[in-house]
Amino acid sequence: MPAFGLDIGTTSIKAVQLDKQGENFSLLAAGITPTPTRGMETENQKDLEAVAVAVKKLITDTKITSRDVAISLPESKVYTRLISLPLLTDEEVSSAIAWQAEPYIPIPVAEASLDYQIVGRTEAVQGKPGKTDVLLIAASKALIKQYLDVCSIAGLNVVHVMSELLALTSALATDKQTVLLADIGSTSTDFAIVRSGQLLVSRSVATGGNVLTRAVSAGLSVDTQRAEEYKKSYGLNASFLEGRVKASVEPAFRVIVEEAKKTIQYYRSEIGRDDQVSSMILSGGTAGIPDSTSYIANALGIEVLVGDPFAGIAKNEQTAKSLASWAPLYGISVGLAKYSYT
Ligand SMILES: Nc1ncnc2c1ncn2[C@@H]1O[C@H](COP(=O)(O)OP(=O)(O)OP(=O)(O)O)[C@@H](O)[C@H]1O
Ligand SMILES: [Mg+2]
Repeated sequence: MPAFGLDIGTTSIKAVQLDKQGENFSLLAAGITPTPTRGMETENQKDLEAVAVAVKKLITDTKITSRDVAISLPESKVYTRLISLPLLTDEEVSSAIAWQAEPYIPIPVAEASLDYQIVGRTEAVQGKPGKTDVLLIAASKALIKQYLDVCSIAGLNVVHVMSELLALTSALATDKQTVLLADIGSTSTDFAIVRSGQLLVSRSVATGGNVLTRAVSAGLSVDTQRAEEYKKSYGLNASFLEGRVKASVEPAFRVIVEEAKKTIQYYRSEIGRDDQVSSMILSGGTAGIPDSTSYIANALGIEVLVGDPFAGIAKNEQTAKSLASWAPLYGISVGLAKYSYT
């Protein structure tokens, strides 16, 4: 039985199990639960055990049947770089990657777990040497061990470990265009540029829904719980509470929009010179903020939509209804579950 997808976020844990018959996916199970207070941001064994208990309960509650799991690592702790190597065969890339990686990652190669994807090759022309473009993905072995330990305590067998944005790419950005993906979570916003289903750029910015809640709390002098409700109900829509929620949320949200702009600029100046980013696809809980898409579309001048990771996945009517308002939360976990079938 293929693995299910597990996304342990700072605020919530998401799990999705899919089935595949021929080319067609169907949804077997999906669920979400709050992440225990310290989540994975801790070295304390007790805190990690609390995460494992929450994961175990989520699996029971959602009736997920597989014990093999595909997990994601937080983008802020993964190093993803597009690098150019000489013109090499697949085998040569495989044996060269470890020593080629050294200058591109901020941790010693011996302490890193490395992964890569060959993006493309350019043949030599008129004395100009050829090259191999490779997407290098690295994370510290210690970080991976922490995730493996939590899964092991939860009784799970980890079969795939990948970055959040690679998972999101397989859920939301598989067509021919070039798109900007943004996963707007609670503590971070992660951006990816994906061309024809190939991830090329990845960035993580330390701002997300928590900052917006704090801004509403301060701006309207309400407690966190009320601020969270206001944020989710009114967001960037100025028609409520005299526009005070929007006025509080906007400066913090603008930071996210500016980072989106920088990501596109970086791609256009360094990688895809003649390429247009055709649209932006939002994911993560904070994508649900009212008027997020129209606000960003105005600022960036491109089409912006909230990605539905369940699009094209068969589900029964009741499940479809229950997931509708929550769909953007499941992007990474759906991508992980899909990846298990590749
Ligand atoms: N309908 C909604 N409208 C606006 N914000 C929402 C909505 N639903 C959830 N959120 C916000 O989304 C955030 C949680 O989203 P998500 O589960 O994607 O984050 P996470 O994965 O736990 O965090 P991170 O990816 O930063 O580790 C919270 O800040 C929450 O307030
Ligand atoms: Mg997340």
